[in-house]
Amino acid sequence: MLYLGSALSRSPNRSRVFLFFGTDIAMSRRRRIYEGKAKVLYEGPEPGTLVQYFKDDATAFNNKKHAIITGKGVLNNRISEYLMVRLAEIGVPTHFVRRLNMREQLIREVEIIPIEVVVRNVVAGSLAKRLGLEEGTPLPRSIVEYYYKSDELGDPMVSEEHITAFGWASAQDLDDVMSLALRINDYLSGLFLGIGLRLVDFKLEFGRLYEGEQIYIVLADEISPDSCRLWDVETNEKMDKDRFRRDLGNVEGAYQEVARRLGILPEGGPKDLKGPTLMQ
Ligand code: TMP
Repeated sequence: MLYLGSALSRSPNRSRVFLFFGTDIAMSRRRRIYEGKAKVLYEGPEPGTLVQYFKDDATAFNNKKHAIITGKGVLNNRISEYLMVRLAEIGVPTHFVRRLNMREQLIREVEIIPIEVVVRNVVAGSLAKRLGLEEGTPLPRSIVEYYYKSDELGDPMVSEEHITAFGWASAQDLDDVMSLALRINDYLSGLFLGIGLRLVDFKLEFGRLYEGEQIYIVLADEISPDSCRLWDVETNEKMDKDRFRRDLGNVEGAYQEVARRLGILPEGGPKDLKGPTLMQ
């Protein structure tokens, strides 16, 4: 209330000042472009931009399992911001522009390539199941896999042949995607190792950014414990969404620990402002 009082008294035009609670009312005033399982995309402030909003929803097994993990969206927004900024610093083009608030970031609007690109360093998850391999076995070299983004089909694995034959991406697009994915893997594996985490595998999405005559392939979506497997180097404890998929408990605690080790845990924890916020 102190904050509210002083903000009101500073306002030159009281009639323009109004209050709302949380972010829901402000969000509903914007045009919603797309709603996914863990994020919403809204129209951005300028043409060619979007606002990416991180929800607390967690889903697994193609939406068969669902829960709300309080604070997850706030943590993923921060973690993804941090990783996208670090990647941009080493020359990886990304859709990220800047974080706007606890749950939102401004991004460049891109045409999403409908392929999930998975990079694996250690056997886990669907690879262990598909080939009957023991989870935790290091791979002789990093492996890149492609999955066609389709909820109805359950994101089936596809090859480069399918991708180019059906026109989801060109051979040149895939060359760019593959080399970016491997550079991202090299960089992030080192970054996470530096904070005692093994980057077991992760999923990336890429988009086409149109700039005049030029088309660039850029990293899109998010990189967070929702889309990575991260195991503690000492204990092998899982610090990612497998805690939710496999009912291991303390999902939020694990995401917080990843943020803490990255040095970006929001002050006072990952909670949103729940009180009144001033809008002018
Ligand atoms: P997988 O072992 O289940 O194929 O998952 C590989 C990686 O991809 C793992 O880090 C989790 C991530 N992933 C997603 O981000 N979204 C998905 O829908 C799936 C299935 C996996």
